[in-house]
Amino acid sequence: MFESVAAAPADPILGLTAAFRGDPRPAKINLSVGVYQDETGKTPLLACVHEAEQRLAASSGSKSYLPISGSAEYCAAVAELVLGTEHEAIAAKRIAAAQTPGGTGGLRVAADLIHATFPGATVWLSEPTWPNHPNIFAAAGVPTKTYPYFDAPGNRLDIEAMLAAIGKMPAGDVLLLHGCCHNPTGVDPTPPQWKQIADAAANAGVLPLLDFAYQGFAEGITEDAAGLVEFCRPGAELLACSSFSKNFSLYNERVGALLAIAPTAEAACAVQSQINKVIRSNYSNPPAHGAQIVNTVLRDAELRQQWEGEVAAMRDRINGMRTSLVEALADAGVPGDYSFMTRQRGMFSFSGLTKDQVAKLKDDHAIYIVGSGRINVAGLTPSNVAHVAECIRQVVT
Ligand code: LMR
Repeated sequence: MFESVAAAPADPILGLTAAFRGDPRPAKINLSVGVYQDETGKTPLLACVHEAEQRLAASSGSKSYLPISGSAEYCAAVAELVLGTEHEAIAAKRIAAAQTPGGTGGLRVAADLIHATFPGATVWLSEPTWPNHPNIFAAAGVPTKTYPYFDAPGNRLDIEAMLAAIGKMPAGDVLLLHGCCHNPTGVDPTPPQWKQIADAAANAGVLPLLDFAYQGFAEGITEDAAGLVEFCRPGAELLACSSFSKNFSLYNERVGALLAIAPTAEAACAVQSQINKVIRSNYSNPPAHGAQIVNTVLRDAELRQQWEGEVAAMRDRINGMRTSLVEALADAGVPGDYSFMTRQRGMFSFSGLTKDQVAKLKDDHAIYIVGSGRINVAGLTPSNVAHVAECIRQVVT
């Protein structure tokens, strides 16, 4: 049977990292996958994570199964991190939640939940979006459509077109939004725009689904949740997927969460049972270790403070590299004004480079960026930024 199987295309992001690993050129640079690297090019183990792991190793934890939805303590810590400790939805017990294998796992559980409970719903994705979004919903049998988001010539959010599109979405559909640090554009709504989007979604009767993979990478832990919290009005409904890959640098532990905010505590119980049902037939129950680390850090005042400092340091380094890249492009004599890159938020810069220019960067210079022109700014360092800028000059001129 396997002889008739056709090969699947390489993943547009992780496939590049696989190709990068196999590239024998010594000066190669990987600016494709969204993984933070420090100024020496290493993906750090955060000090707060190291300390939490020491504590966990010293306590004799059991390796028995977790509940289907994972650790309730961890889920509560995530809800408080995302919504703030005082949020009405927490007090009203309107939240169903699950510990999931990464943010992607949370999205897949959300997709299965939508398929099981709202079989007629379409999920609306921003144009452009993370290339794995359409795959996840397609795998769950959920149809997707796109709404306008990015105004490429203006390097800005096309808020007018976005609001008009939301106004035309059928009630009962799902509106997927990036909680902060839009992937791939780095262009987020402003607080007043978030309010307009939340109003438009409420008027249209669509269910917001917030993909929240970069909390802390735009402005701060609390500040970055402001858009998401705008949707959590009294009685309002929401799905949110958190990831701790980036802000805890826990990429290979696969730790994330799905939150579902329901209008009442009774509805939340029913939604929880449906979430548990889809998890049971998928991966049964989640892996424990990453969530134990996150829970340990979030619940210890000292470690929590240390974590916030470490997130701020990663954010500051990325923003510093944005400025360095814009300066290096000017110094290299690249034509055009790239100052828009300093206004983009999160790990990525949507450079505007064409597919051909991206291919030339890889083929001629061993510099890997995503086909959409997305550069992982968190992979730039003081010692490679001038070289990257010079190579960009060569492919654009
Ligand atoms: C990215 O967009 O590079 C990250 O979210 C990693 C991934 O899984 O694609």
